[in-house]
Amino acid sequence: MRDLTDDTITEAVLSTVRGAKDARLAEILGALVRHAHDFVRETGLTEEEWARGVDFLTRTGQLCTATRQEFILLSDVLGVTMLVDALGNRRAAGSTQNSVLGPFFRDDRPALPDGADISEGLPGTPFFFEGSVTDAQGAPVGGAQVDVWHSDADGHYDVDVPGLSDPAMRALLRTGGDGGFRFRSVRPSSYPIPDDGTVGELMRATGRSVMRPAHLHLRITAAGFQKVTTMLFPSDDAHLDQDPVFGVKQSLVTEYARHRAGTGPYGTSTQEPYTLLRHTFVLEPVEPASGARHL
Ligand code: BEZ
Ligand code: FE
Repeated sequence: MRDLTDDTITEAVLSTVRGAKDARLAEILGALVRHAHDFVRETGLTEEEWARGVDFLTRTGQLCTATRQEFILLSDVLGVTMLVDALGNRRAAGSTQNSVLGPFFRDDRPALPDGADISEGLPGTPFFFEGSVTDAQGAPVGGAQVDVWHSDADGHYDVDVPGLSDPAMRALLRTGGDGGFRFRSVRPSSYPIPDDGTVGELMRATGRSVMRPAHLHLRITAAGFQKVTTMLFPSDDAHLDQDPVFGVKQSLVTEYARHRAGTGPYGTSTQEPYTLLRHTFVLEPVEPASGARHL
């Protein structure tokens, strides 16, 4: 392998990865080399541009800590996160679709009883949620674990609310025998993705909006069913069509119904106008039905 030229270098590099013991690793590395070389050829990338790219990736890595993952954010805004999800989690039309997990999930969330107020007294429009989890035939899925988490009325998650040390606006709930679960909180608001790092630079350089539409995150796990990581957006949000992380699906755009002050749902009461969101989540079995035995 000497005197390689721009015509021969790609094949020379490919020949070094083909021998990897792990065949899948050989396939992925091979594709990476081919696409990277094609990218350089197609753009006629200059030395200065490559140095800028390396500097961008270096700074992206330097921003990553135990609580901040700029590379995942980069994957999100380049649509890679949603593409990987789409390929790995093809769901039937009537089933609940996935969306991005995002950086604000915490596994130290409290397990709370059905109907709990998860707002920890934070200010905002009272928000009531009534969910139901079923299988594809509409039968209730009892005992499902449901994680919920969301931002406050200013678009902040608990980790970014000054003076708040305990988890708030997040909980681990469990469906009852009827597949139902409920909670009360404050209505979430739209907010910008973290834009003080390299991803923010990219967004500004390309003139893109950093605003995510308001949403409620949910993650549902139940024995025998595929895990669903999703979010529900209000249909009247101004940012639905410019989501910087490409997470909006029409089936996840929902009616955040506004109600006048007075008696709330499921025996609650509120003296202020409130929002009520009801949604049914349809889970798919772990084994696709098409895999059923042929008799
Ligand atoms: C979120 O919804 O929490 C989120 C998702 C992706 C990037 C940033 C935030
Ligand atoms: Fe979020």
